[in-house]
Amino acid sequence: MEQNRAKFGGKLSAVLVAAGSAVGLGNIWRFPSVAGDNGGGAFLVLYILCVVVLGLPLMIAEFSVGRATHQASVGAYRTLNRRWTFVGYNGVLAAFLILGFYYVVSGWTLEYLFQSVSGTITQASTPEAYSKIFENFHLDPWRPVICAWIFALMTHAVIALGVQKGIERISNILMPLLFVMMLILAIHSLWMPNSWDGVKFFFMPDFSKVTAQTVLMALGQAFFSLSIGLGCMVTYASYFNRETNLRHTALNVSLLGTLVALLAGLIIFPAAYSVGIFTPDTSPTAGPALIFITLPAIFNSMPLGSLWAAIFFLLLVVAALTSTISLHEVITAYLHEEWHLSRKWSNALTTASMLVTSAVASLSLGVWNHWRICGLTIFDTMDYLTANILLPLGGFFTCIFVGWLLDKKVLRNELSNEGKLSCHILPLLVFLLRWVCPVILAIIFLDSLGLFR
Ligand code: TRP
Repeated sequence: MEQNRAKFGGKLSAVLVAAGSAVGLGNIWRFPSVAGDNGGGAFLVLYILCVVVLGLPLMIAEFSVGRATHQASVGAYRTLNRRWTFVGYNGVLAAFLILGFYYVVSGWTLEYLFQSVSGTITQASTPEAYSKIFENFHLDPWRPVICAWIFALMTHAVIALGVQKGIERISNILMPLLFVMMLILAIHSLWMPNSWDGVKFFFMPDFSKVTAQTVLMALGQAFFSLSIGLGCMVTYASYFNRETNLRHTALNVSLLGTLVALLAGLIIFPAAYSVGIFTPDTSPTAGPALIFITLPAIFNSMPLGSLWAAIFFLLLVVAALTSTISLHEVITAYLHEEWHLSRKWSNALTTASMLVTSAVASLSLGVWNHWRICGLTIFDTMDYLTANILLPLGGFFTCIFVGWLLDKKVLRNELSNEGKLSCHILPLLVFLLRWVCPVILAIIFLDSLGLFR
């Protein structure tokens, strides 16, 4: 199995590919709006704590499971312990559902990129007008679906090129490009008049807004934005080579993810305060509105607005693409290894099922809005079910499995690259995985079921 399996090349590739999965709409779109709603700097502190205490150990655990077995998530858990194969299946199901709605939002970024390039994005004048444009786009039965499909086909094309020529190469090109675009945009925002108010808003901890709910939001955000709990990192690590240092890779990926989230805040808030869309007295709107309604209005009030809008939405498309690739690969690798289909057919089957699922998710926000499951649209149900139930469950079982059941020799081997590196952190890692992570995750999970409200 190990000999003829595709492998990522250099040391940097492992970091860039995993960071490509982690950095996505979660960091650039979701983080600034959630942070804005939950006390700015205070949320930041909590988020960083969660990344360190929960995210890092779990990522190392997932990397170890993947590289020890050289198999995608279902096969990896089965090889280590047949009874725990369900953790792999849970991940494939979650990947399927996340990808269904992720393609929809990715499609919106594509639509807004088209609008920026064609200049139509700067034609409205008030935030209300932008809100109307977003609403009309949603209600159109075809356009959002077609955008989601284009995105799925782009992802299909990368996966079709294979693990090295597709996934690895595209991450090595796109990730540096993404950082450069982010730096340019952040410097530009900070350069604008009165941008300082936005910086203050983003960094000043307002601990009065912190509640138990905020802590749980920070945990959920850390999870989603590091791509853990789903076997995504297991699948990617199965392509790591023997020399990859798992600890360093996990550390770098977490640092890059956090950095991107910070830069996203530094792009959005200073600009929003500078053009007067946000003022020190009005609190910002969160959720989809921030990126698709507030931001176009901000770009509109800047000189060369369409250009900045085009760079920003290209950035979002790039970030989303490297994340959809990782989710698509989880399903494709599963079909390839478990159903013994060729990679070509596995990819085709994944794409075909995603065309249907993403169309349903997209239409559930527009013409099929009246179809509800417990009051939620199909889109929101997919979001809720994955972020609040399947991911925490996957993370919880991963900690229990790696912390309590997995032979410590396997973990030691993976951390030390068969004795070549020191592994002082092993006792700490095991302690976190055995006790700290499962307890915290159990709390998130019970909270998501509404037990603490
Ligand atoms: N981390 C990505 C983001 O922030 C989304 C993502 C990709 C993901 N793969 C994942 C989330 C696996 C959870 C699990 O946008």
